[in-house]
Amino acid sequence: MTEFRLTQISDTHLARRFTRLTQNFDRVREHIDATRPDLVINTGDLGFDAPTSPDDLEYAKSLHDALPVPCRYLPGNHDIGDNPTQVGPVSTELVSEKGRQAYIALFGDDRWRFEAAGWCFVGLNSLVMNSGLVSETEQFDWLAGELANIAGKPVALFLHKPIFLNAPDDPELPASAIRYVPMPARRRLVEMLRAVDLRLVASGHVHQRRDYTFGHTRHVWSPSAGFIISDKRQERIAIKETGLVEYRFQPDSFEVRHVRAPGQADVDLDELFATEKTKAPATT
Ligand SMILES: [Fe+2]
Ligand SMILES: [Fe+2]
Repeated sequence: MTEFRLTQISDTHLARRFTRLTQNFDRVREHIDATRPDLVINTGDLGFDAPTSPDDLEYAKSLHDALPVPCRYLPGNHDIGDNPTQVGPVSTELVSEKGRQAYIALFGDDRWRFEAAGWCFVGLNSLVMNSGLVSETEQFDWLAGELANIAGKPVALFLHKPIFLNAPDDPELPASAIRYVPMPARRRLVEMLRAVDLRLVASGHVHQRRDYTFGHTRHVWSPSAGFIISDKRQERIAIKETGLVEYRFQPDSFEVRHVRAPGQADVDLDELFATEKTKAPATT
């Protein structure tokens, strides 16, 4: 295969009780049906909030099963719980092995690697980082083994949380620590990735569309497929809109297209709660 077409969706946050999010997913499904990429990757927050509403994950799985192309998944904090950080408040829903196993039972491995069009694609569970769970150590050991075995191929990394805001040494601030891969796991991850030809880091989580290059690596933040978060709840870093990202990989090069599915609406989290009368969870 000399060209590999990949569509990234993220932060679908599906739940039976939020019909507007299901409508946005339906528009995304129609777009995927029309464009037929080789693979769809959902970079997490598949369900609205599985730690408090486990059915959300099952509902998300049923809708993804209806996609007309192969799909790979990664967990988000609203699927398996959040990272502990060195600064800032502790999440009320910390990542747990129980949550991770519930995710794996439905969506399969929470880390993976495959090759296509001369590229090596790696997916990581960003929520176990800095957790102290056994699976954190297992994942780093697994990653070291995979990275030692890629024979110089360019690497595209997918994970739920961006690794950092602008640069690896950005300070961890209490107000935004849960937005990025936490220290000290971030430092370890960055060090490991220095040994390979990392061209792309594709993440979700922030519900903002962003695309920038640091050094040799392009960092693409997928917007949420489901909803945006207002400025009064979350600082504006980049573009607040719903949408998805399309990639074309060829040996030694790739293209990125920032796309909105026809009919995809900019549902605001506050509108969602106003109409559904549900309490808002902590956001990104
Ligand atoms: Fe999210
Ligand atoms: Fe998230």
